[in-house]
Amino acid sequence: MRIAVVGSGYVGLVAGACFADLGHEVILVDNDQQKLAALRSGQVPIHEKFLPELLGRHRGNRLTFSDDLKEAAQLSAAIFVAVGTPPTERGEADLSYVESVAREISGGIDDYKVVVEKSTVPVYTSEWVRRIILRNGIDSDCFDVASNPEFLREGTAVTDFLFPDRIVVGCDSERSAQLMREIYAPLTDGSYYQRTDAIPGPDRAAIPPPLIVTSTKSAELIKHASNAFLAMKISFINAVASVCESVGADVNQVVHGIGTDSRIGGRFLNPGIGYGGSCFPKDVMAFRAVARESGYDFRLLDEVMRINEDQRQRFLRKIYNALWTLRGKKLGVLGLAFKGGTDDIRESPALFLVQSLLQEGSKITAYDPAAMDRARNVLGTSISFAGSSYEAARGADALLILTEWEEFATLDLNRLRQELKFPIVIDGRNLYDPDVMSAQGFTYYSIGRTASHPDGIPTPVAKNGKKA
Ligand code: UDX
Ligand code: UDX
Repeated sequence: MRIAVVGSGYVGLVAGACFADLGHEVILVDNDQQKLAALRSGQVPIHEKFLPELLGRHRGNRLTFSDDLKEAAQLSAAIFVAVGTPPTERGEADLSYVESVAREISGGIDDYKVVVEKSTVPVYTSEWVRRIILRNGIDSDCFDVASNPEFLREGTAVTDFLFPDRIVVGCDSERSAQLMREIYAPLTDGSYYQRTDAIPGPDRAAIPPPLIVTSTKSAELIKHASNAFLAMKISFINAVASVCESVGADVNQVVHGIGTDSRIGGRFLNPGIGYGGSCFPKDVMAFRAVARESGYDFRLLDEVMRINEDQRQRFLRKIYNALWTLRGKKLGVLGLAFKGGTDDIRESPALFLVQSLLQEGSKITAYDPAAMDRARNVLGTSISFAGSSYEAARGADALLILTEWEEFATLDLNRLRQELKFPIVIDGRNLYDPDVMSAQGFTYYSIGRTASHPDGIPTPVAKNGKKA
């Protein structure tokens, strides 16, 4: 089938490349000429596993790039809208890009087409998209608007798209539902997973995902509610971690104890410095605004956001408690991205903490496996960038772990202790075991667990490893 995807950001680019890999003819549309030129010339503007392979496979044949939305719409049976829906001042989703795209698409509707919301949008958006297209003189028989929310996570976006737990399509007509079934058939009938060149999935037998057909409104709500629930789970465990700190319990033990209850589940119960990224912060706010507008005071979401904000302040206080004062202190920082596996720094808790520590007068040397270029655009020369975790720790008064990159959890602790001025590690992602760290001579602070000290007050490390 011929499909158009508007917006080549994290969602649009991944969806477009995956649709091409399912066998569809895909036109990726974007109004950013620089991005288009980069994509056409073989560059991959975002850090996503398997995306370079997919773009390499299909670029120029099943996957083409264009800035002409009207033409792309004319040529396609379905047009997926994946443009940005950034938050407004008041926390609502800014839908102006969605509206302008809907208007442009109208110009290309000359036979039956389905316009599909892929971006995260508030409930009722599909109604507005429909109204805009009707106002632009298109007959209601000539199109349908559907909602097909995306649940992909950055860093694992391609496998999340191709091996989803479920595919949700919100359709208000059988005709549009049928077309959506055809688009996802290679996944729902399992044929994609039989292919020898299929992208490898998570280490379990590929199970064809269910395709859940709902109304457009329900599908729009499923997305907001899913993200809000996951954010709530993170804030809940962070709140429990704070109680653990007060009573001397171990949050990781608590997570194991509650997570093994199949009604709760252990995923998304990792305590840390709070959630970030381009989705959870804005989607929780947008859902709060949608509920308010619909007359429901969803105060639980305020608490989810408050706990998340507070988690950053609590970590700052933890650094103060470890180091007393911060002015002039040399700090090593591991992680700038909002989470491991991505170069994305949007709403990154790590970046927030680095900027707060700079305001406190600390000197920072940071390392991140993928996000340093994007961080440099924001932080400029206010911090130093290191070539490795060990270089970031060199001569530092303490090391902060702010992003859960896998490589940060397997560092050579001996070497790390040698690099540091003081063997102090303040871990915002609980990547290490407190007992192991104290046995290795570190003073180790983490989230929801009692700080561990080697044997009393930490002293500067002499270069020969002996106490000064
Ligand atoms: C998008 C949605 O913004 C978000 O709501 C949803 O949760 C995930 O999908 P993302 O892919 O990260 O997020 O967006 P972004 O990286 O901002 O990319 C949007 C793309 O749309 C950009 O490449 C931008 O150039 C393009 N765009 C935007 C258009 O082509 N036309 C427009 O009118 C506006
Ligand atoms: C999220 C949703 O998971 C995805 O379904 C949706 O489509 C887009 O938004 P993403 O933002 O890429 O995906 O990242 P995710 O892996 O969900 O992590 C979000 C934030 O929560 C990160 O800052 C991460 O560090 C944090 N997190 C995640 C925790 O603090 N604890 C956890 O247990 C899980």
